Amino acid sequence: MRTVIAASFLLIAGTSISFAQQSQGDAEAGKVRAYTCAGCHGIPDYNNVYPTYRVPRVAGQNQLYLVNALNAYRDGTREHPTMYIQAASMTDEDITNVSAYFSGLGADVDGGSDTGEGAGAEKAAICQSCHGPGGSQSITPDIPTLAGQHEDYLAHAMHAYRNGQREQAVMNTFAQQLSDQDIKDLAEYFADQKSNLRDLKIK
Ligand code: HEC
Ligand code: HEC
Repeated sequence: MRTVIAASFLLIAGTSISFAQQSQGDAEAGKVRAYTCAGCHGIPDYNNVYPTYRVPRVAGQNQLYLVNALNAYRDGTREHPTMYIQAASMTDEDITNVSAYFSGLGADVDGGSDTGEGAGAEKAAICQSCHGPGGSQSITPDIPTLAGQHEDYLAHAMHAYRNGQREQAVMNTFAQQLSDQDIKDLAEYFADQKSNLRDLKIK
């Protein structure tokens, strides 16, 4: 397990450095492109159907993670019919700009001081080595904020990593070690933490 973690850190550190320079983006242009996105990401508790879980909060999410997610939908490595349609019409520049806009929308929160207690808190210790205290401050920008994300979406994501529907080497490895109960406890724990994630409100 230790070796896996150490290797993952190296992998992540390597990728984020090469991406850091190119993912600045034009948030104003991204804002214009983001109006259609608000039709789902801006409606509180709006649901995905089959299976049912809430549409994830994207405002305040880390920029490089957003860029990676949109690329993965667009090239089909992350399968989701609706998000495929959304991403397929985006250029690389659109993706960078929208991600810059979304990531700039987070509220300033001193996340993570409230690391909580209970089953989820204990199980979350290992996750925090990458996702940060309470899942609120990732160690690199390609790692998403978990704090304040919808509980049912977090659970859905962990199941998708565990059953391989969503492929990402690091998270596939971690998710394979989680029971259904672990997933439930972890989703509940991270959803409860202080966060800068928000529903998308375009002002
Ligand atoms: C019809 C509803 C709908 C619209 C419109 C929509 N999305 Fe999504 N989006 C979803 C759903 C549902 C998911 C979760 C999919 C999954 O499980 O992978 C999602 C996931 C995402 C994610 C991944 C979030 C994460 O935490 O992994 C990003 C980024 C995203 N959308 C960006 C956008 C952008 C940018 C637009 C506008 C160009 C947009 N979405 C428009 C429904 C929508
Ligand atoms: C070695 C670093 C690392 C560790 C440790 C780690 N993660 Fe992750 N996690 C990542 C990365 C990188 C991603 C982004 C993967 C991708 O792009 O799909 C991620 C993504 C996620 C997502 C998807 C969020 C979203 O918005 O879709 C969830 C949920 C998650 N991790 C939960 C956990 C949990 C729970 C643990 C502990 C059991 C954990 N992670 C441990 C690196 C890590």
